[in-house]
Amino acid sequence: MASSPITMMKMKLNNCSPPSTAAAAARFLPLLGPHQIRFRSSVAPLYNPSFPRTIITRPTFSSSSIITAAMANEASVKVIDGKKVAKDVRDEINAEITRMKDSIGVVPGLAVILVGDRKDSATYVRNKKKACETAGIKSYEVCLPENSTEEEVLKYISDFNDDPMVHGILVQLPLPSHMDEEKILHAVCIEKDVDGFHPLNIGQLAMRGREPLFIPCTPKGCIELLHRYNVEIKGKKAVVIGRSNIVGMPAALLLQREDATVSIVHSRTTNPEEITREADIIIAAVGKPNMVRGSWIKPGAVIIDVGINPVEDATNPRGYRLVGDVCYEEAIKVASAITPVPGGVGPMTIAMLLSNTLLSAKRINNFK
Ligand code: GUN
Repeated sequence: MASSPITMMKMKLNNCSPPSTAAAAARFLPLLGPHQIRFRSSVAPLYNPSFPRTIITRPTFSSSSIITAAMANEASVKVIDGKKVAKDVRDEINAEITRMKDSIGVVPGLAVILVGDRKDSATYVRNKKKACETAGIKSYEVCLPENSTEEEVLKYISDFNDDPMVHGILVQLPLPSHMDEEKILHAVCIEKDVDGFHPLNIGQLAMRGREPLFIPCTPKGCIELLHRYNVEIKGKKAVVIGRSNIVGMPAALLLQREDATVSIVHSRTTNPEEITREADIIIAAVGKPNMVRGSWIKPGAVIIDVGINPVEDATNPRGYRLVGDVCYEEAIKVASAITPVPGGVGPMTIAMLLSNTLLSAKRINNFK
């Protein structure tokens, strides 16, 4: 969800055909050739819901259920069900919130600041608020007009920093262009930085032997999906496509912390297809519909598709549909596991925000 583009790509979509209006994206698109290899399947990834990783502890892997590369064909590809995992995570959070409320009378609080009238941002904030209510988290919402000043936003942040009822503060991005994003994110006190965007949190994420107080929600959701489906990360080659501050960069840091060997593909990478094809794990977070074609994918790779791209679709009553950064129809013939769009990473972002808010409330109140 975090990497979703702001504007709808105006294109007639023919499955994974390249966007005719996006020359930059077209540069990446390879021809699909007869070289495309298909591997026979032996084991499909298993979702193991009894291994709650975010909320409680990290499980040890059982070798029989670890997913490795080179295990898939179209019939056996595992669709990673982000909706289901997110629901499980939210149920676990609910139970923890009830336990905390019953024992110490504390209800976690999340403050969300929205500036401007972007429809997509308003939708995300509405969804976050709804999810908070369902989970038993109290939400505090501030909506400011586009022409608000930086000082007004900073004043709200300062008030929320001082408010003991608020355990998490989220400033919805992007901010209007006249605002200094860095200054505003820096103003959120690190103990309430549930987005994990404070430079100190990101710095600690990047350093060995340091622990960030919070991990950014979308990348955390990606790793959570890999964990819950028992995808082995340690020692694997991973590629992150996209280097945004919100998803790509922290996702690459997280994979590295999990002992993967990580490459980052970005808009200036000269051979994105070649690099991607080496990866056992692909996290695509670039915001370009269907950019990653079947020929980019190593047989048996596990794919986490963060893209949520609206593309024109006259057959859909809404006039558009959502597609990922990965050409799903081609990818399922090659990968061993893949997240769908929608229903993959998207639901996980909000679940991780709730998880970070609970974590914050517990830490501030020293509740174990
Ligand atoms: N805009 C898009 N994704 C995100 C996110 O995860 N957090 C915030 N604060 N803004 C966003």
